Amino acid sequence: MSVLRLVLAAASLAVTAAALAQPSGSGSGPSSAASRPNAAAAPAASQPGAPSLDFEFFKARIEPIFTTKRNGNARCVSCHDSGTPMRLKPLPDGAAIWNDEDSRANFEVVRARIVPGNPDESRLLRHPLAEDAGGDPHHDGGKHWTSKNDPEWQTLAAWVRGATLGSAPTPTELHARIVQTNSAGDNVHIIDPATNKVVGTVTGIEVGHGAGAAPDGSRIYVSNEADSTLDVVDARTLRVTSKIPLSGHPNNISVSHDGKRVYVAIRETDGVVDVVDTAALQRVKSIPIKGAGHNTYVTPDGRYVVAGSVAGKSLTVIDQKTEQVAWAMDFDLGVRPLAFEANKDGSTKRVFVQLTDYNGFAVVDFATHKELRRIELPKIAAGKKPVLEGGNTSHGMAVTADNSKLIVNSRLNSAVYVYSLPDLKLLGAVDVGVAPDWVTLTPDGKTAYVANAGSNSVSVVDMTALHEFTRIPVGQVPKRNVSAMLP
Ligand code: HEC
Repeated sequence: MSVLRLVLAAASLAVTAAALAQPSGSGSGPSSAASRPNAAAAPAASQPGAPSLDFEFFKARIEPIFTTKRNGNARCVSCHDSGTPMRLKPLPDGAAIWNDEDSRANFEVVRARIVPGNPDESRLLRHPLAEDAGGDPHHDGGKHWTSKNDPEWQTLAAWVRGATLGSAPTPTELHARIVQTNSAGDNVHIIDPATNKVVGTVTGIEVGHGAGAAPDGSRIYVSNEADSTLDVVDARTLRVTSKIPLSGHPNNISVSHDGKRVYVAIRETDGVVDVVDTAALQRVKSIPIKGAGHNTYVTPDGRYVVAGSVAGKSLTVIDQKTEQVAWAMDFDLGVRPLAFEANKDGSTKRVFVQLTDYNGFAVVDFATHKELRRIELPKIAAGKKPVLEGGNTSHGMAVTADNSKLIVNSRLNSAVYVYSLPDLKLLGAVDVGVAPDWVTLTPDGKTAYVANAGSNSVSVVDMTALHEFTRIPVGQVPKRNVSAMLP
């Protein structure tokens, strides 16, 4: 097997050398000594005035294509780090992406397969492309793109034509989206709140738990309970580009306001919050908290990371800048989802805390760390059958961006309740699907998306009229959802 591979590689090296041996033109950089296995492949010729290839774009957008898992395909990196021409650097243990030095070496190796300004003539784009779409007849690594319309092929083409990161998504290209995970499925749905239709599906994430998005709309992050990884999804291609190993079994996640960190609650006996650096795509530390971690949040002002623990019956407040624990607070019951109300200056005023076996929530003053009161949700209407499930009585809450309303789920009642803020007066109730588990709001706070875990759907609730205007079918047992600005 490996002998055959070597022979194939050697044969292809000769072909490559012949195919690429063209008079060198302007814009072709020096070949790095680090790319020994590719020494036979001379730098590709470029037409006069051809664009230069941007390294930052390569690192941010092209290299993730090599680590992406496509359905039915092996990943490029699984073969191209040994035994093949176009030899990439092996990924360091535990790393999901290359460091700068290795990326530079990869850049030199890959640019030899590019004709700057001409995607159709570039081997990198032709080899894995289906023949009937304009690709080469054969690639030992298979066909990864059935057409040039594939978003990855388009990304490669943009790079070949000289794209830089400045030409990556502009704010006007971003639209409000709801990212809906399916806790018993292997996919994540993307909903367009303008049409209330599923407009995209991420596949290949088994037992997805929490979701978050990069503030620039470039990526979606999903904690993967089956693999204990943080899965990184390219927001344009909706493919998993990297899987970052975590320290243990993950639950929910949150993203720092600057997008540089993802905080993952790790549900192990000794609970921690794993901190993932989104540039290095690596876990950089684990902050101990009291009890197994369940949810993490970043406060509305971005200054604190707050983690809740069911087993530890506590919440832990971490300073976002120093990543040290600032304070913690104990409860008589397990701590489940949280929601935050902000002061006029943006700082955190109160935390609403859902608790195990309690069909309601606690109200905590953030400055004094004191519980002010507990509000029980209305009793279920007579004749309606309650849903009883393991302490998860009231699960999922959200506060509108203008701090005027709080929406609270009741799994028990299969209903949501809307309260006015700051006075916490009940404005009304809306019946939704079975066992609503999570809720997110559109950025304008006018519409709530409620994940109905027991009916595989998402209820769309008008926050003013207090009625459900539609129900969107999604995957198996939908739970966490988040609203984000995505391309
Ligand atoms: C199953 C292993 C495997 C996978 C997966 C794979 N390749 Fe390959 N690739 C090879 C082998 C072996 C060769 C050499 C034989 C050939 O050209 O088909 C090759 C050749 C190539 C070449 C031509 C190399 C040269 O010297 O010019 C390019 C370009 C290439 N692959 C790109 C890719 C890209 C991009 C991906 C992912 C989208 C990918 N490959 C996935 C095994 C693989």
